[in-house]
Amino acid sequence: MKRYMKYVRPYLYAFILGPVLMITEVVGEVLMPSLMADIINVGALNHDVGYIVGKGISMIGVALMMMVGGIGGAWFASKAAVSFSADLRKDLFQKIQTFSFANIDKFSTGSLVTRLTNDITQVQNLIMMSLRMAMRAPGMLIGAVIMAFIMNRQLAMIFLVILPLMVVAVAIVIRTAFPRFTILQKKLDALNSNIQEMLTNVRVIKSFVRGSYEEERFAHSNADLKQSGLNAFKIVIIQMPVVMLFMNTTTLLVVWFGGNQILTGRMPVGDLTAFTTYVVQVLSSLMMLAMVLLTSSRAIASLKRITEVLDTQVDLTDENARYGQVPVKHGKIEFQNVSFRYYKNSEEKVLDDIDLVIEAGQTVGIIGSTGCGKTTLVSMIPRLYDVDEGKVLVDGIDVKDYSLKNLRDGVGMVLQKNVLFSGTIQENLRWGDENASEEALLEASRSAQADEFVQNFTDGYETELGQGGVNVSGGQKQRLCIARALLKKPKILILDDSTSAVDTATEAKIRETFRTTLKDTTKLIIAQRITSVMEADQILVMDEGRIVGRGRHEELMKDCEAYREIYDSQMREEVLA
Ligand SMILES: Nc1ncnc2c1ncn2[C@@H]1O[C@H](COP(=O)(O)OP(=O)(O)OP(=O)(O)O)[C@@H](O)[C@H]1O
Ligand SMILES: [Mg+2]
Repeated sequence: MKRYMKYVRPYLYAFILGPVLMITEVVGEVLMPSLMADIINVGALNHDVGYIVGKGISMIGVALMMMVGGIGGAWFASKAAVSFSADLRKDLFQKIQTFSFANIDKFSTGSLVTRLTNDITQVQNLIMMSLRMAMRAPGMLIGAVIMAFIMNRQLAMIFLVILPLMVVAVAIVIRTAFPRFTILQKKLDALNSNIQEMLTNVRVIKSFVRGSYEEERFAHSNADLKQSGLNAFKIVIIQMPVVMLFMNTTTLLVVWFGGNQILTGRMPVGDLTAFTTYVVQVLSSLMMLAMVLLTSSRAIASLKRITEVLDTQVDLTDENARYGQVPVKHGKIEFQNVSFRYYKNSEEKVLDDIDLVIEAGQTVGIIGSTGCGKTTLVSMIPRLYDVDEGKVLVDGIDVKDYSLKNLRDGVGMVLQKNVLFSGTIQENLRWGDENASEEALLEASRSAQADEFVQNFTDGYETELGQGGVNVSGGQKQRLCIARALLKKPKILILDDSTSAVDTATEAKIRETFRTTLKDTTKLIIAQRITSVMEADQILVMDEGRIVGRGRHEELMKDCEAYREIYDSQMREEVLA
């Protein structure tokens, strides 16, 4: 709870003014019935028009006061609740941004979306409601009971019977509702995950004609959600008639006993009208309290889910970086006995005791069968994952000793599963460097052999890309991704299978410009085709998480069985083609 105080503090005035202004409504509501009773008992009985008008005017005055207080109170309550949740949402989002890949894998993205949206809305609803009711419901309850006792103690005894009964009924309702709301939020998670996966992969779904399967899956989680919603709201629905039953029974009792008192002259007629109003007020304020409690049972379930995200230990941070200020200067890379596995309890190592030195400015090719660990190997350099054993050094400094920002600024990586974002081509390239000059942007684009096709688009660099870059071809997308990485002017450039969809002639041109324009940049090129890495200063041949051969092309052709096999098979294919 303490952690959430920081979202209250900046809006403390609203958190206080909201309920305080509501007091005017309470005072008004409690005063109104007694003014009414006076009009009937005194004014009407004595045909005193002046008295009636006087009381009438004070009733209007009270009503105006209630209106002003009510509007003000509601406004501050909304302000407090909405600001609270906006700040909380911002922090939650920031927290998720710091998550490592491993952290994100643990929550599903759908669940994170629900937590950021619906769960926060539940908390916001609770705050808004409780600020408006915090003074009003208890105030009205107590005020009306006191007024009733002052007016007619005997008749007010009815409350002593009815109130405890009603409290028990409300408590039962809430205890039943709470677990149902927890389930409801979980089902909402499932539905959101489902929608999200469907929307991101809509192309694959269509191409595999899995539409009806997806529909069924959706229908299933939708039905699930509906059922748990019904289960929860069933309880909410029951509450209303139960309270009404109490209310009507009490009114009946009041009229019965009160009527008797009037007949025997122990009670003025006007008091009975006022008294029944107090009955309604007492019971409806109890109902309001019950509503707040019910909302809070849902909001508490949500708050738990939010806290869970905020409390997650981020397992990859730069808090202990010893050289937080140092940028990557040259781009020398060393691996010392590096081992890694994705699942910490699995036997098989994905990287097994890797030793490696890459001098600054070198071009290094990495080759090997799929799943042998190439992507994993290079992921260690910008710390997308942390090594389990051993060390990765960049310019002689452990990567864990750089700040993440400096490290990742120094390492440009074109991922195997690369994506572009919605926005113009220019905006996408500027991810590499927001403030890059027009000239630098064009140069990066030319080096990646992207300039030519971009210029051919009618809108050139202002061409709008769809989400994920749907409206450019696979090879064009790869070239834009390379240009984006180049614009960063990184000391280390990693291309993970980044030219697989580019034709060989264009790929050769890219390699050529790399040689001339990126002389000082360390270049790591993962490729399937040997021709892509043949001219590298050093070629690493990987197999099952180990480096089984290293050297220049000619050396490997002589000494490395695995390399020769790959070469032969690819040459054969070429001849056949
Ligand atoms: N995020 C992940 N979680 C769990 N296992 C993973 C993850 N990424 C990769 N793996 C596993 O680690 C092993 C090495 O994968 P990696 O992506 O490094 O291979 P690769 O050499 O890049 O293959 P490819 O040439 O197909 O890209 C594979 O067995 C793969 O199943
Ligand atoms: Mg890979």
